[in-house]
Parts: sequence; C-alpha cells; structure tokens
Amino acid sequence: MGFHTFDADRAAKLDDPARFRFVSREELLSRLGVAPDSVVADLGSGTGFFTDEVAPHVGTLYAVDVQEVMHDLYREKGAPDTVEFVTADVASLPFDDDHLDAAFSTMTYHEFATDEALAELARVVRPGGSVVVVDWSTSGSGDDGPPLDERFGLGDAVSAFESAGFTVSHAETRRETFVCVARR
Ligand SMILES: C[S@@+](CC[C@H](N)C(=O)[O-])C[C@H]1O[C@@H](n2cnc3c(N)ncnc32)[C@H](O)[C@@H]1O
Repeated sequence: MGFHTFDADRAAKLDDPARFRFVSREELLSRLGVAPDSVVADLGSGTGFFTDEVAPHVGTLYAVDVQEVMHDLYREKGAPDTVEFVTADVASLPFDDDHLDAAFSTMTYHEFATDEALAELARVVRPGGSVVVVDWSTSGSGDDGPPLDERFGLGDAVSAFESAGFTVSHAETRRETFVCVARR
C-alpha cells in the first residue's frame, strides 16, 4: 500500500530549513554508515533538500524520483557533482542486482511502500547494505505532513522490510516520525 504522490505545486515547502526539526544530516549519515566511495540512492528525492546533505559524503548519490518535474526543480537549484538523476518508481529501479551500498528515504515511505517496492529494494541493495527510512508516523499529531490516515506506523514498516528479507537493526518512534534501519 502506498498513498498519493506529493503534489509538485507544493515543492517550495520542501526547501524549508525548519524541516531539519524532523531529521538532520547528522542522523542520516550516522544511520547510513556510508563511506566516501559508497553508492547510495535517495528514494523520492524531491527538490533534493536532504540529498544535498548526504551527497558530499558519498561517491555516487542517485536522486530517484518518479516525477521529472521534481528533478527539474532540483537542477534549477544546482545539485552537487556526486548526484545522478534517475526518474523512476521505487518499484522499478534501473539498477543491477546488488548495485547499491545503501539507500535512504525521508518523508516519502508512505508514498512508495508496496510489496513490489520493498522487493525491488531487496534486489538492488547489496547484502550487508542498509536502507534508512524516516517518515511521518501514525502516532504523530498530524500538525505537519500528510493526514494521519495516509501514514504508516513503525510496526508496519518493520514488518514490510522483514517480509522482504531485510533484518531491522534500528527501529524507533519519535514524536512525529519513525526511523527504520533495515539491513539486507
Ligand atoms: C514528500 S516529497 C519528499 C521529498 C524528499 N524526500 C524530502 O524529504 O525533501 C516525496 C517525493 O517522493 C516522490 N515519490 C513519490 N512516490 C514515489 C515513487 N513510488 N517512486 C519514486 N519517487 C516517488 C514524489 O514525486 C516526491 O518528489
């Protein structure tokens, strides 16, 4: 199950620095555990708000988004040299098996989370690689982010990753968001 795709007309909201209240570069990099030569994907990269934070610390960062217009907006801002744009659905990624050392997704899991997408991540992330998901939680207030009935809970994400063959190494619900780190 995935919910509606983010409306590109609201893209400017994604560049609000106040969004660091919900997840920081420090947290993403620590959870990802990447090296300077790592090959990583940002799943549902949008305008690149969090892509920009991770890109200087890895070898290649694929900005994956199903909407080309989001890539256009990111290109207009200017992307770091390590960013490669990929227009694709998470459920059908143009990567070879085991191509990625890691992947992450911020505030987007509820838009792509289907059995097909999780199976695709199990295919493209190498054994030992990780997927870090931070998304709005059903237990949040609903003051920010999508309506509560369009969100998943931490338990939903943990079950989905485990069913797809991942081992969950960190799982945490905070005030508005959850974090799920799944190892392939
Ligand atoms: C809420 S925005 C978040 C963007 C970015 N992760 C951030 O935190 O700034 C969600 C983005 O995911 C993209 N998206 C939604 N479903 C997707 C899918 N199935 N595959 C790839 N991208 C998807 C949307 O086009 C949109 O740009």
